[in-house]
Amino acid sequence: MGNGVLISFCHVSFSLIILISWLQQTESQSDGCDFFQGSWVQDDAYPLYDTSKCPFILKGFDCQANGRLDKLYLKYRWKPASCTLPRFNGEEFLRRMKGKKVLFVGDSISLNMWQSFTCMVHVAVPQSQYTLNSQGNLSTFALPDFNVSLEYSHNVFLVDLVKEDIGVVLKLDSIDNGNYSWKGYDVLIFNTWHWWVHTVEGKNQPWEYIESGGKIVKDMDRLAAFKEGLTTWSRWVDSNVDPHTTQVFFQGISPTHYDGKQWNGPMTATCQGETKPLNGTTYPGGLPPAVDIVKEVLGSMSKSVTLLDITMLSLLRKDGHPSLYSGKEGNDCSHWCLAGVPDSWNEILYAILSTGDQASRLM
Ligand SMILES: *[C@@H]1O[C@H](CO)[C@@H](O)[C@H](O)[C@H]1NC(C)=O
Ligand SMILES: *[C@@H]1O[C@H](CO)[C@@H](O)[C@H](O)[C@H]1NC(C)=O
Ligand SMILES: *[C@@H]1O[C@H](CO)[C@@H](O)[C@H](O)[C@H]1NC(C)=O
Ligand SMILES: *[C@@H]1O[C@H](CO)[C@@H](O)[C@H](O)[C@H]1NC(C)=O
Repeated sequence: MGNGVLISFCHVSFSLIILISWLQQTESQSDGCDFFQGSWVQDDAYPLYDTSKCPFILKGFDCQANGRLDKLYLKYRWKPASCTLPRFNGEEFLRRMKGKKVLFVGDSISLNMWQSFTCMVHVAVPQSQYTLNSQGNLSTFALPDFNVSLEYSHNVFLVDLVKEDIGVVLKLDSIDNGNYSWKGYDVLIFNTWHWWVHTVEGKNQPWEYIESGGKIVKDMDRLAAFKEGLTTWSRWVDSNVDPHTTQVFFQGISPTHYDGKQWNGPMTATCQGETKPLNGTTYPGGLPPAVDIVKEVLGSMSKSVTLLDITMLSLLRKDGHPSLYSGKEGNDCSHWCLAGVPDSWNEILYAILSTGDQASRLM
């Protein structure tokens, strides 16, 4: 699958890669605590915000406003097995991030996480002025009192999608996008996955050809395409990001719940009507294969990128999706209700930014 980059490296650099990926793994854990292993516990202090207090929330995420009646799904806190996440303190975050810019880059799952973060921050300082601007693919939420900017750049593949004479081409080895839109940030949080499996039949595949290894093809194995595209992104980070000024995260694979067999539910079950998370720490259906590709690509990078390894904790939340309450037709078991699961992703992001090595530099 994909390319055989590693094979061409000599033994020494191979050992170095192992060492670096080991360092990256330990870096994403803080004081011996793996934030991504644990279970969901009920907590009446949740949710972290009431969406009616977050005036800019997008309709698609506001499940209660869209008629969802059950509320238990709002009452869960993510509890790592060997520690407790620090409680999110929005005001402290803003004070420590003074003068800094944060950018989420990716598909609508990034939008989901960015919206969660801006709501968490806004409810912490409801009296502070904010501005919200959208220009092209970029949305900017800024708090002038703190000189902090939280931005979202819509970009579903990260690599380039180009309209050429033959049609729209997804270029797995080209990432010009990054040159003019990902520079000058203190924190970058990337995500891409869901669009790689979209099809013509599903009417949501935006390209007609793929350019892979210099060749134009009509289609190819989608996991292999994802790996090649992600590798191109990883090279962009390796050659363009200065780790002394910019902390880079990869958001990890956000799972869907369209297949009840995976959680030992009825064959026909989807997230629709689900009101509780799964108990315990593991998902019967296991991890989606894209997770291994993300870990492999991140593990062979020379610059340190922190993986927000949110797949397993999100798999346990079959109750967390909008389902019929996205304000649109259809059954959405892909995005997440807000308040909800992305708030926990952001609690972990906050925990990593406020502890460990990065903290002294960033916050
Ligand atoms: C806000 O922060 C930027 C750095 O991101 C800095 O250049 C600018 O001077 C700051 N503005 C104010 C008003 O402090
Ligand atoms: C960004 O927006 C422009 C139009 O404003 C569009 O042509 C371009 O493809 C978009 N880029 C991405 C990565 O979505
Ligand atoms: C973007 O940067 C890469 C090198 O990192 C370069 O090869 C490419 O030509 C640049 N593209 C643009 C549009 O500047
Ligand atoms: C989960 O655990 C709770 C309390 O331990 C129990 O009441 C509930 O029935 C369990 N649910 C499932 C699906 O096993």
